Amino acid sequence: MFESKDTDTSSTTSKNTQSLSFHSSNITPAKIDWQMDDTGNKVPVSGEFGDVYFSNADGLAESRHVFLAHNQLPERLTNLAPNQCFTVAELGFGTGLNFLATWQLWRQLRDIHPQLATAKLQFITTEKFPIPLTDLTQILALWGQRAPELTTLIELLLAAYPPLIAGCHRLSFFDDNLTVDIWLGDAAESLAKLANNSSSSHVPYVDAWFLDGFAPSCNSTLWADSIFAQMQRLSRPNTTAATYSCAGIVKRALQDCGFQIKKVKGFGRKNEMLTAIMLDTINLTDNNNGNNSKDTNSKDTNSKDITSYNNTSTAAPDNDSQSAKPTDNLPAHSIVIGAGVSGLLTAWSLANRGIQVTLLDKSAPLAGASGNPRALLAPKMTPIHHVDEHLHTMGYLYSSRLYRCLNVDAKKSGLVPIVEPTGALDLLMKANIGTEQIADYPDEMATTLSHEQAQTVSGLKTQDLSENLYLPQSGLVNPQALKDTILMHPLIHFQQVDVKSISETKESVCIEGSNEDKQTISISADNVVICAAFESHQLDKRIFDCRKIRGQLSWFTPTTEQLTILPKIPLKYSGYCALFTAQTGDAQLNDVVEQHSQFLLGASFIRNDTDIDIRTKEHQISRDKLVTAIPEMDSIIPTDISLWQGRAGIRTQTPDYHPIVGVLADSKRIWVMSAMGAKGYAIAPICAEALTDMMLGTFAPLSTAMLARLSPNRTRLQTPLT
Ligand SMILES: Cc1cc2nc3c(=O)[nH]c(=O)nc-3n(C[C@H](O)[C@H](O)[C@H](O)COP(=O)(O)OP(=O)(O)OC[C@H]3O[C@@H](n4cnc5c(N)ncnc54)[C@H](O)[C@@H]3O)c2cc1C
Ligand SMILES: C[S@@+](CC[C@H](N)C(=O)[O-])C[C@H]1O[C@@H](n2cnc3c(N)ncnc32)[C@H](O)[C@@H]1O
Repeated sequence: MFESKDTDTSSTTSKNTQSLSFHSSNITPAKIDWQMDDTGNKVPVSGEFGDVYFSNADGLAESRHVFLAHNQLPERLTNLAPNQCFTVAELGFGTGLNFLATWQLWRQLRDIHPQLATAKLQFITTEKFPIPLTDLTQILALWGQRAPELTTLIELLLAAYPPLIAGCHRLSFFDDNLTVDIWLGDAAESLAKLANNSSSSHVPYVDAWFLDGFAPSCNSTLWADSIFAQMQRLSRPNTTAATYSCAGIVKRALQDCGFQIKKVKGFGRKNEMLTAIMLDTINLTDNNNGNNSKDTNSKDTNSKDITSYNNTSTAAPDNDSQSAKPTDNLPAHSIVIGAGVSGLLTAWSLANRGIQVTLLDKSAPLAGASGNPRALLAPKMTPIHHVDEHLHTMGYLYSSRLYRCLNVDAKKSGLVPIVEPTGALDLLMKANIGTEQIADYPDEMATTLSHEQAQTVSGLKTQDLSENLYLPQSGLVNPQALKDTILMHPLIHFQQVDVKSISETKESVCIEGSNEDKQTISISADNVVICAAFESHQLDKRIFDCRKIRGQLSWFTPTTEQLTILPKIPLKYSGYCALFTAQTGDAQLNDVVEQHSQFLLGASFIRNDTDIDIRTKEHQISRDKLVTAIPEMDSIIPTDISLWQGRAGIRTQTPDYHPIVGVLADSKRIWVMSAMGAKGYAIAPICAEALTDMMLGTFAPLSTAMLARLSPNRTRLQTPLT
């Protein structure tokens, strides 16, 4: 008989898990029941599976014993080389307790070992039935009381916890050099999406697995062959695994996918648990031939005898062995060309992984399309069954988390906020989703307000607001504040250089260009990322020559009377408008009156026009768009537009509307991140993370299929625009 997660022999009834299979993009939140544990503490139980999330004896101690100690995390993390990244992958995020225990260990180790300052921890976890935030808050509040050392981490996790939408949600904790990728959806499907066909010389792999499904008798899906096949694909010699389960199918499956297993003392009432290590089959073969000096200290490492992996200290992974992750060839210095939102975010992602970045722009940071007074952070929506593979939604959620997290840092340093979390109301005049499809989304991501609520939040009086999309996590990004924060990173150095050419050798890249004094500048680095928007093609002809779409944004300073009647929240219709207060520093970038309210509206779309002069005609186009969509604005928005300010920029777009992110064909060192279309502030941050991961050989927060869709070398980009 299989054991339950908590007992050696269990009479737990197995529920019919077949009835719990849904479309992969539809997430079913966990149903939480409660019971008392052995020490009289309330502990959560899965309503679906009838099993406990963690041991009734002491979940935190169980986590530390089973997953941390028996993957040798204290030793392995301590021994990481500078800039080395260690990857943990977990099956079943549940309450996040394993993650919190790992995070706390990581913090402790980093506190006492200064050499870990630049090492990274990547925690990848999967969850098909995520716990709703309110339940999770309750569960973790109890842990906060029992284990005060977790309190701060619990707060940070809860603040970053994503809406329950299928797909990968990356949470970045920059101060701790920690990223967490929560893949919501079926674990086997999620693992299958992890890309390890890296375009760089570094291929991502998992260092340690936490196999923490409910007991196989309660839920077999996390112990299925498809899971173990993925484990095999994503592991390499010395990858370890640990699980509380000693069920026969687990032992056999681990062995069948190349792990050598060992039974050790389990936690609490459990006599046994399993640890495992992926065998180095090449060395094993050599060992058997008697011609390999690498001593695995096993009695018969090729056999599937579980007694053979019986000495943790000698069978544990060896960081110094030839199979240790090489950091020698990781790039140390990158050049990023173009300091718009793409270049800034690329520089930020690279610098946060310890790479020195020289950021170049021919004019100044934000000189191109990215330099508007404010950018609306909003997704292009999609029906929920596509959401997990929808760059705009996942990118928007990541951006929203990132900007809010940067706000916290900005506040601490007395700087202007990066995002004003206003929310936004879309009147669904140019949307590819209706209210029925919006209803499929969790309210914290997207919802439809009642007509009355919509009137209250917007301040509109006569408009029919019965159909709308309210985006609570939307907001107004302040590009100037974002730029200031990013440029403060000690590893990012900005230089004004108009880049004319890029040359690549086997060892390095070199750019040549001229500075503001027309002096020739040449800079070498390990690699280069071209973020020059529509001008990227001029720097390397392998980059698709994209569609160029001019856009002009307009704004004016409203009178006190207008202020009381202008929309109170950013609105989307066939264009968008928003009220904002110009902050200190804004006037360096645009003609705004600092500390005063400004009303912006836009934007025009003019194809194949790369002039950036300000046109009265386009102010008028934006005014017309607004009053056509919302007629009550006609009496509020001034008709005299002669005092309006504006800014024009060029959007860069591919024929398939996907950005271009990746390494160029036949190149090892020339990368590109471009074609952000009309949504750079929503999608550049996640694309920058994916690019950095591909460059460094760590797992990207986007699926293999998505990365292929973004590839600069994709088939759709082989035919030039006509
Ligand atoms: C009117 C308008 C309104 C918009 N509103 C929004 C919005 O509300 N929300 C949103 O998310 N998106 C919005 N967008 C889209 C968004 O602005 C773009 O997606 C984004 O700015 C693209 O960023 P980028 O960094 O790729 O390009 P850019 O910001 O154009 O940056 C490219 C940079 O490369 C530099 N460069 C080019 N060639 C060289 C060279 N040879 N050497 C050195 N440097 C070079 C340029 O000087 C420039 O600074 C809007 C766009 C426009 C035009
Ligand atoms: C024992 S709990 C994990 C406990 C968790 N590690 C913690 O620290 O709280 C098992 C988890 O696996 C999840 N799960 C069950 N089937 C799954 C599947 N097919 N794919 C992904 N997750 C699944 C459950 O919803 C549950 O949260």
